[in-house]
Amino acid sequence: MSPNYQATASAPVNIAVIKYWGKRDTKLILPTNSSLSVTLDQDHLRSTTTSRADPKFTQDRLWLNGKVDEIKPDSRLETCITEMKRLRKKTVEDKDPKAPKLSTYHVHIASYNNFPTAAGLASSASGFAALVASLSHLYELPVDASTLSLISRQGSGSACRSLFGGFVAWQMGTKSDGSDSLAIQVAPESHWPEMHALICVVSDDKKGTSSTSGMQRTVETSPLLQHRIKNVVPERMEKMTRAIKDKDFDSFAKITMADSNQFHAVALDTEPPIFYMNDVSRAIIALIVEYNRLSRENGGRYKAAYTYDAGPNAVVYAPEANMKEIASLIIAYFPQKAGDFKDVLGLFGAEGAKD
Ligand code: PMV
Repeated sequence: MSPNYQATASAPVNIAVIKYWGKRDTKLILPTNSSLSVTLDQDHLRSTTTSRADPKFTQDRLWLNGKVDEIKPDSRLETCITEMKRLRKKTVEDKDPKAPKLSTYHVHIASYNNFPTAAGLASSASGFAALVASLSHLYELPVDASTLSLISRQGSGSACRSLFGGFVAWQMGTKSDGSDSLAIQVAPESHWPEMHALICVVSDDKKGTSSTSGMQRTVETSPLLQHRIKNVVPERMEKMTRAIKDKDFDSFAKITMADSNQFHAVALDTEPPIFYMNDVSRAIIALIVEYNRLSRENGGRYKAAYTYDAGPNAVVYAPEANMKEIASLIIAYFPQKAGDFKDVLGLFGAEGAKD
């Protein structure tokens, strides 16, 4: 009987507060700007992946949510698997001649999402992060999460950020080989445990324009994107990092909403234009804007911040103390959707991807 080479890991989704949108290298997935995100809760919205290596396997295979999924030659999936095998050889087998030659075995991989796939809820981020984390565990790689982020980035850009919990920056880097385009943790979840997220599932249909084709079109056609890359994001990255370190929710909220707005403006500035939000998304924006306005008019502070990725679903970040009120407001204004949102309490993952 051959030994049992198998490992399971899971990773949560992350939702960006400074959005990644645009690639300067489509093969290596190098972004046109840095980005910053919050990794969500350990139990909601996560992918769990089991990988198994066996000398008897005749090819690499993948099951996604129980169905066979093809591993196409030269696909991102194949790139991630190949890079992980290469890392196994370099960091383990070349150093220890007695180590089993797992890099030469085929792998079977099964991955599950506990939420709708490709509905603008960042399933590719948690999926590729869980894949890389499970292979890293299987191969017993002596590397840190930032090194693994270099590989998960090549599956889906935003996946590099899901290898950490808490507040995570993806530094765009400057090198053409991508060796400095990686994720780092800005602050662990324990730094700001009052920060919670409410996910409002407006629609769980598959999205119309994939992030890959949308980004490419934006890079090719949007003048606003060039302004964003040069004049907006670098300063926002610094201000957002400071806001997180200082636990300054007013600044966090202002930057988060401004960056979501600009990302969707850039999508609209694309030829032909891309619309990710729908009327319900926009109504939720109006509600949060009004909620903040009333608070601030009475001498208070910002109470909530909305953000939207490449889909119509809202993510509302707010201090835990405000969450009940926000959830009641959403239920009151969108009664037909009352069962369709989740208050993701206990927001943060303990360590991002985990075994
Ligand atoms: O990593 P991708 O290709 O799924 O792109 C993600 C893009 C956004 O979710 C819209 C923004 C982000 O930074 O996560």
